[in-house]
Amino acid sequence: MEDSPIKKCLFPAAGYGTRFLPTTKSMPKEMLPVVNKPLIQYGVEEAMDAGMSGMAIVTGRGKRAIEDHFDINYELEHQIAGSDKEGYLREIRRIMNEAVFSYTRQIEMKGLGHAILTGETLIGDQPFAVLLADDLCYNPEKGVLSQMVELYKYYRCSIVAIEEVPKEETNKYGVIDGKEIAPGLIRLSNMVEKPKPEDAPSNLAIIGRYILTPDIFQIIRNTPPGRNGEVQITDALMTQAKAGRVLGYKFKGRRFDCGSVPGFMEATRFYFENVYKEQ
Ligand code: G1P
Repeated sequence: MEDSPIKKCLFPAAGYGTRFLPTTKSMPKEMLPVVNKPLIQYGVEEAMDAGMSGMAIVTGRGKRAIEDHFDINYELEHQIAGSDKEGYLREIRRIMNEAVFSYTRQIEMKGLGHAILTGETLIGDQPFAVLLADDLCYNPEKGVLSQMVELYKYYRCSIVAIEEVPKEETNKYGVIDGKEIAPGLIRLSNMVEKPKPEDAPSNLAIIGRYILTPDIFQIIRNTPPGRNGEVQITDALMTQAKAGRVLGYKFKGRRFDCGSVPGFMEATRFYFENVYKEQ
């Protein structure tokens, strides 16, 4: 793997997952399995494919299962050692060998911007990726973060992945506006968090993949709470956008909104039919 300028990926994972209650009462939504693999593992694999080895996870109360997932389970290892079941652990063992995991807790849920700022201690002063695990992205040739890292190498500014959504759904997303500077690449001039369809500047929505330059931390510190009284990354990014330093990228691939039950079901069916291989 060629050396990547982006070494770390931040995973905000403190949210409650209310749409999946009661399942998510004591189980992190990031651990929901799409077929046989938890959502967060798909995300970690996408980040590793893009050349990242530092996985910085912002957790919260009730999220211990995530840490255990990326750790050795000695009893299990002992039980299946030498048996034909060992193959089931191959992928996760590779991840544990090749990636380094670090964790910090978000004490209060004050929005995605606040979650990202909480992760500053794990990231430090370097550009980094952010991956929201409930946006599951499928592209067997080149993952979305790999596509974005390629762009970062050239443009060296923040990049958000975008996708066309039905106009009536703009209130679920950050929605962008700007000028197309190359096919599928937009220099952003405006971003609005969860606008009503009639107030939306376009039907191009931000999805859960970002590359951010580290000045974003100081900007977030100076960003007042916005939509829903939460500190929004969309608002912080506007400061960079005003200086022409944010690109929107129409990624190649298919996204499943696994934060909603219908999107999750669609992903499960798709991955079962197209990705899952019986061992
Ligand atoms: C967050 C962001 C939003 C973005 C979305 C992508 O919203 O605030 O701008 O469009 O992720 O999934 P959330 O889904 O956490 O409410």
